[in-house]
Amino acid sequence: MNQPSIVVVSSSLAPISRSRIAAQYAGNFLRSIGCEVQTVDLSSMAVAPYPASENDPETLSAVNLFNSAHGWVLASPVYNFGMSGVLLNFLHYALDSDRERFKPFVIIETLGGLRSALSSDHLARTMVYEVNAVQVGPAVHAVGDAGINRATGVISPEVIHRIEKSMAALAHYSRARASVQSNLLSHSWVAA
Ligand SMILES: Cc1cc2nc3c(=O)[nH]c(=O)nc-3n(C[C@H](O)[C@H](O)[C@H](O)COP(=O)(O)O)c2cc1C
Repeated sequence: MNQPSIVVVSSSLAPISRSRIAAQYAGNFLRSIGCEVQTVDLSSMAVAPYPASENDPETLSAVNLFNSAHGWVLASPVYNFGMSGVLLNFLHYALDSDRERFKPFVIIETLGGLRSALSSDHLARTMVYEVNAVQVGPAVHAVGDAGINRATGVISPEVIHRIEKSMAALAHYSRARASVQSNLLSHSWVAA
């Protein structure tokens, strides 16, 4: 398997969003290094709190897309020292299954100040402990307009460097995950 598939989830509902800009950059970079990338932009979907959208076709299709990928990018604003409730709500549907195990993921978080830099820890813990996902490096942070300028859309060289480094690592892990998929699933102790 040479071309890993990666789903990028963007969760800010703000019309101009730093985390969406970062998610788009990450997706384009992953494509440029040979990954097949699909985006789930939660700002263009209406996913109601669990379980109200359980039978909604658009939600189901996004959940299936998410679960069929070899790796994930989760992009979120920091709100009150935590990740966006919109992202967590989507994951209540998407992680409601033990089918998908040991998949690599990277978190991108945009925030107002570095004192909130550990805000994504609860999301990482959910991913690692609940679905046995594998976090590839620390979360990528972009702080305020110095990190990603909302008015111009310009991403600082430092944030670009962090995104590219993390995406390159994610591509490698996703390729590895894709190549061992049939092996992993052949063992009953990790089977779907
Ligand atoms: C309701 C709300 C709560 C926020 N809470 C925090 C916070 O706890 N820590 C922080 O550093 N920034 C906080 N911010 C700032 C946002 O994280 C920051 O503007 C970020 O860029 C938003 O992401 P977005 O541009 O993708 O929507 C908050 C913003 C809002 C609107």
